[in-house]
Amino acid sequence: MIKHLRRLALLPLVLLLTSCAKDAPQDYLQPEGTYAKKIDTLQKPVFILAAIVAVFVFALVAYAMWRFRERKDDDPNELPAQMHGNTKLEIGWTILPALVLAAISAFTLPVVFELTDEPDEYLAVDVYGQKYWWGYEYPGEGNSAYGIEEAGIRTANELHIPVGVPVWLTLRSNDVIHSFWAPKLNGKRDVVPGRVHTWKLEAEEPGVFSGQCAEFCGTSHAFMRLKVVAHDQASWREWVEQMQAPLEEPEAGSLAAEGFELFAQKGCAGCHQVDGAYEEVAEDAPAAPNLTKLFTRDCFAGCIYDLTDRNELEAWLRDPQRKDGSLMVIGELTEDEIDRLYAYLETLR
Ligand code: CUA
Repeated sequence: MIKHLRRLALLPLVLLLTSCAKDAPQDYLQPEGTYAKKIDTLQKPVFILAAIVAVFVFALVAYAMWRFRERKDDDPNELPAQMHGNTKLEIGWTILPALVLAAISAFTLPVVFELTDEPDEYLAVDVYGQKYWWGYEYPGEGNSAYGIEEAGIRTANELHIPVGVPVWLTLRSNDVIHSFWAPKLNGKRDVVPGRVHTWKLEAEEPGVFSGQCAEFCGTSHAFMRLKVVAHDQASWREWVEQMQAPLEEPEAGSLAAEGFELFAQKGCAGCHQVDGAYEEVAEDAPAAPNLTKLFTRDCFAGCIYDLTDRNELEAWLRDPQRKDGSLMVIGELTEDEIDRLYAYLETLR
């Protein structure tokens, strides 16, 4: 008995621990985007309805348990009164739930269609999921209204969007099934190899919204994070301009210029795009993040490391396997080489 009571005492603790996060960055119960709010307005009344049904059913069960409990003067050998079905009850408990579900679906279906409908006007972004990071391409075609030129923009891990504009995502996978999820902006959308899925986001206020891969995809699934950065008009224009400005060549003889050479010698340029700086990436190279404007971001490797902390990138160059399942192979570098590579990478902004 005491043992059971002790176990029961854990219950409030569990409730307490699961509810103690205030202002959690991925709290889908505090939606901030247009579509996430649509889902929220739908799920709240449905939850209340389900709760009422649950209380009603549990109350009936509790009543039945109490009403038909074993009594002292019951004869243990005597069978309880036998009965066979109750047509009225059975019809009732078939029709009533059917009506409740029909009412819920009348509200749910329009939202389901609304969430998958292609908006009239939108910023288009191609999203690529792979082990264990997200790649983004803003095609030049069709995006001129948002300041994007023909060559388009390629980036990784951080998805930048303008506020108040629907963003139409085209999702593809380069390997296994992933799932794109920025909880405060919209629900999840699976990213499946061999298929093209679409999804949309819209932020109402500027801000940074964190998210993550929501489909188990391998050892570093939990480290396949993402960030959506929503800009107001002015800062969106700034970002677009910076992303499209040509890279400045490192000054001849500088540490960065040596790093530029090293980037090719060590094979980095064989997988990582740095637009315009090297020959095209090898066809059979594993997918690797585009580094063209690396230092406009503040996270890397699936957004689990802080790019504003020099130590993090240096540690990564020393050992890219520090993240399980990382495909990056670079061999052992001397501290001197790491300094040169860092000096070059830092110019990519
Ligand atoms: Cu990608 Cu989990």
